[in-house]
Amino acid sequence: MSAEIKRIAVLTSGGDSPGMNACIRAVVRAGIYYKCEMWGVVRGYDGLINGDFKKMDLRSVSNIIHRGGTILKSARSMEFKTDEGMEKAFQNLKERGIQALVTIGGDGTFKGAYYFSKKYDIAVMGIPGTIDNDLYGTDFTIGYDTATNTVVECIDKIRDTADAHNRLFFVEVMGRDAGFIAMNAGIAAGCEDILIPESRTSIDELVATLKKGRANKKSSGIVIVAEGDEEGGAIEVARKVKEQFDGYEMKVAILGHIQRGGNPSCFDRVLASRLGVASVEGLLEGKSKMMVGIVHNKIVYTPLTQATKQNPELDPDLQRIARIISI
Ligand code: F6P
Repeated sequence: MSAEIKRIAVLTSGGDSPGMNACIRAVVRAGIYYKCEMWGVVRGYDGLINGDFKKMDLRSVSNIIHRGGTILKSARSMEFKTDEGMEKAFQNLKERGIQALVTIGGDGTFKGAYYFSKKYDIAVMGIPGTIDNDLYGTDFTIGYDTATNTVVECIDKIRDTADAHNRLFFVEVMGRDAGFIAMNAGIAAGCEDILIPESRTSIDELVATLKKGRANKKSSGIVIVAEGDEEGGAIEVARKVKEQFDGYEMKVAILGHIQRGGNPSCFDRVLASRLGVASVEGLLEGKSKMMVGIVHNKIVYTPLTQATKQNPELDPDLQRIARIISI
């Protein structure tokens, strides 16, 4: 373990995700276990720039493992993208003698961390925390499991009322660029069709599927739409379908930020704890500009330059399975 790193700061940035608190807890406790002084930064990179730091001890992270949101708050910082912002952030770290930074977030968070560490003498380690599950270098991001379960729970409820009224619902879920939530929740909730940004389903194809279902005596249905789908969000898709098909009364439900809240699942708490400890261990071993992830159930460190949204693989077999079981 390197002798240099004695003070580590941790922050959460970008869209929050359930399990971030469990991760902060693991980072702080691991750091203290390895005899480091631990600091929390409030409101992500904005807090780094404004000097909003708080010293963390063992009890600062008590009773948070089960809570959604983030005790350190989060933000999407525009100022951190500027040279002046980065300089202020560096001076604040230097003043406190902090040598390393753990950033919990997604693609944007890691881009900022990478440039910061390239410019200044600060070691950085990223931890994937986003409900989107859209980062290369990890099979799962913290919060994705909880969010997907929230979606399934909501759709189960919608299905009850859809069935009671013989209605067709278009349910919109989060995922600007990624269809992981839509695809997996769509299979788990038995949706009639799943619209995702990674592969195009035209309105004609969707209408054909719905007509077939109607002919097969489906009295109600659910179409799940990822917000980033090429055909538009659920409102737009419903409007286009209505122009060609009148087999059902149609309704739209947009689940929105409900997907980001709530108590993290067991899976997310364990994932967050493993990645939190591994982030500190990686830094103390001299690793920097890396994201710590989990691949085939093993801890893996990936350079931040590769741990981006490009190329997150959505298993094509899932689409085939969804088509087979939704007839
Ligand atoms: O990146 C996570 C995410 O929840 C996306 O799925 C969604 O598109 C976006 O954040 C919403 O961001 P905001 O909370 O800033 O509206």
